[in-house]
Amino acid sequence: MNLETKYLGLRLRNPIILGSSPLCDDVDAAKRLEDEGVAALVMRSLFEEQFTPDSAEKFEAGFPSLQEYTFRPDEYLRQLEQLKKAVTIPVIASLNGRNPGGWNVFAQRLAAAGADAIELNCYHVATEPEAAGHDSETDMMTVLRDVVQSVRIPVSVKLSPFHTSPADTAVALDHAGCAGLVLFNRFYQPDIDIETLAVHPQLRLSDSSELLLRLRWLAILSPLVRGSLAATGGIHTAEDMIKALLVGADAVQLVSLVLRQGPDVVPGLLASLQSWMTRHGFHSLADFRGKLDLTHCPDPAAFERANYVRTLRSWKA
Ligand SMILES: Cc1cc2nc3c(=O)[nH]c(=O)nc-3n(C[C@H](O)[C@H](O)[C@H](O)COP(=O)(O)O)c2cc1C
Repeated sequence: MNLETKYLGLRLRNPIILGSSPLCDDVDAAKRLEDEGVAALVMRSLFEEQFTPDSAEKFEAGFPSLQEYTFRPDEYLRQLEQLKKAVTIPVIASLNGRNPGGWNVFAQRLAAAGADAIELNCYHVATEPEAAGHDSETDMMTVLRDVVQSVRIPVSVKLSPFHTSPADTAVALDHAGCAGLVLFNRFYQPDIDIETLAVHPQLRLSDSSELLLRLRWLAILSPLVRGSLAATGGIHTAEDMIKALLVGADAVQLVSLVLRQGPDVVPGLLASLQSWMTRHGFHSLADFRGKLDLTHCPDPAAFERANYVRTLRSWKA
């Protein structure tokens, strides 16, 4: 049985990627993930506030001081080099920020240090009333072009689900040379403590329910973009992974599941994928990938507005 997939032009032995997280901070842990079957690694992000030349001026109130980041830029490059020495699977570096300008130099350093690809996470919470709706997309396109023009390795973008027209944004990125889209960034919502009257930032791990938003947009974008697609957010079981592949993902990224259960969760996922494929007579991922995307599924309306009306009517008290 062939579980191989192509992601960002890279040949992966199976569709399981370790998503951007602290799980690659330790080389031995990364090696263990490779041994358990993970097919590629995404490093934690390095932040714009750290690596762009005028970063000091970009610091906003409430941003951590430079000492609070796990890796300084030079340490990040060293970690990347160490990972490349330790594992044979692709290692994807991650840059995170929102303001255009100055990304190219560090992107070149990542490529020189051996990164197989770069994932851009343009994490932006648009709270400024003077910012127009399309400003975030314009900035993201500028960042993407800047990086794509400066390196020869593939560059992907981790998208937010909150674009006014995700399809338009995805196609524009695809045309601008984006090698793949990662759907979707997770926004961490602060909670309120009603006793101390304080606002608490919090990091909650995901569950499978978060996957549904990803499935819908993977299904919609799969026929539209030439680049690769990866699902991130809510992959917790082999069923979740299979669903993402059925709607057109080339790969899935795991974080919460591995943080909770450790690297030895991976062989079980791969075994379950294989046995499902056997039951359905599929010999390779190509046999079923995208079978339920918008152009191939028997009921495309299920992904569109008609679904809304139908879903509301389906409620029985
Ligand atoms: C502890 C932790 C650290 C993370 N760090 C990053 C990061 O540095 N850059 C990034 O793009 N995403 C980061 N993420 C988000 C994950 O890559 C992933 O998109 C998100 O957790 C959803 O996937 P999951 O449902 O498999 O956890 C982090 C997530 C967690 C839980």
